[in-house]
Amino acid sequence: MNTIEKFDKHVMHSYGRYPLVMQKGEGRRCTDENGKTYIDFGSGIGTNSLGYCDEKWADAVCTQVRTLQHSSNYYYTGIQAEFAEKLCETSGYDSVFFSNSGAEANECAIKIARKYSFDKYGKNRHNIITLVKSFHGRTIATLSATGQESFHNYFFPFLEGFINVNANDIDDLKSKLDNTVCAVMLEYIQGEGGVNALNQDFVNAVFELCADKDVLVIADEVQTGAGRTGKFLAGEYFGKKADITTMAKGLAGGIPIGACLTTEKCSNVLTAGTHGSTFGGNPVACAGGIAVLERLNSEGFLDEVSEKADFIRKELEKCSEVESVSGIGLMIGIKLKTKTASDIAKKALDKGLLVLTAKDKVRLLPPLTISMEEIKGGMKILIDILEE
Ligand SMILES: Cc1ncc(COP(=O)(O)O)c(C=O)c1O
Repeated sequence: MNTIEKFDKHVMHSYGRYPLVMQKGEGRRCTDENGKTYIDFGSGIGTNSLGYCDEKWADAVCTQVRTLQHSSNYYYTGIQAEFAEKLCETSGYDSVFFSNSGAEANECAIKIARKYSFDKYGKNRHNIITLVKSFHGRTIATLSATGQESFHNYFFPFLEGFINVNANDIDDLKSKLDNTVCAVMLEYIQGEGGVNALNQDFVNAVFELCADKDVLVIADEVQTGAGRTGKFLAGEYFGKKADITTMAKGLAGGIPIGACLTTEKCSNVLTAGTHGSTFGGNPVACAGGIAVLERLNSEGFLDEVSEKADFIRKELEKCSEVESVSGIGLMIGIKLKTKTASDIAKKALDKGLLVLTAKDKVRLLPPLTISMEEIKGGMKILIDILEE
């Protein structure tokens, strides 16, 4: 049996996979089992933020594996303390709960929002407003939060207490933000929903209306965070700091991680026994996270992310098949005039380039460390396919 046959025999068929068996990666290129190499414009859906097997990151991770690979959260570890300190300093937040994925980080945010409200106002103020076309994860609570009907199938009953508002529709928001609501949860740029950035007026309205009513703002920065947009958090673009921000994906450079960050207001909501995670704050993930933060905080790194993004956007705008380019920084959505995104992704794979799709768009989330030479190589492949 070859790898794909073995895989399909034993792994559940919950993904529509490409016929590519990844074997190894180096820098921003990966190699399949037949030795074919690919320039990676997807970084494992925005996760390999420093590319494949970055040397400093790999050293930090391997050293930690050989020192202490896991410890129960009933004990303290120096490495979790160090990562938490660096993450709070970098993000401007006061405290963090670590988990292992974006969905779990959002579960934590949902629990904090509901408990914050319960502690202060009692029952019946548990509703959370989320946006149409949002994506918050695959657990039952985060699927319930996700504002896309196509995700609300099969697994009934979903969790009550989520109300959807149209993105960028201030009147819709005002009409639904009543005294049953404890939080508004948003992605500044909806990723899975099609790489759609919110507009500034709407974001302003969310923060103003929520502040008036002591309703918390939860920013889901699972995809937009950790330097993806050229800022550490996309909220910085909008001049906003949510009460709660969730992160995952690129935060530890490819090791499972989730982080739920809170301002001082919510730092003491979770008390002993109210939340937990066996693997959350795992020492190896924390070592990976520290290596990522050190690189993101290094002189000029995030400016370079923006410069690289500008170059890609300008190249795309010159292409006759491109209708429009969306997103911020290295989170790029490409709306096409005549071709379909999934066909482009398949053709790109054939030609040695990995790209993603989001709804009807081609989506690019390249590693933040991608070089200009790799960008030019990948863009040549992509533009040639688009203009074919
Ligand atoms: C904005 C957003 N939130 C949450 C998630 C879920 O993250 P995970 O797959 O790590 O649970 C994703 C994943 O794509 C995401 O893009």
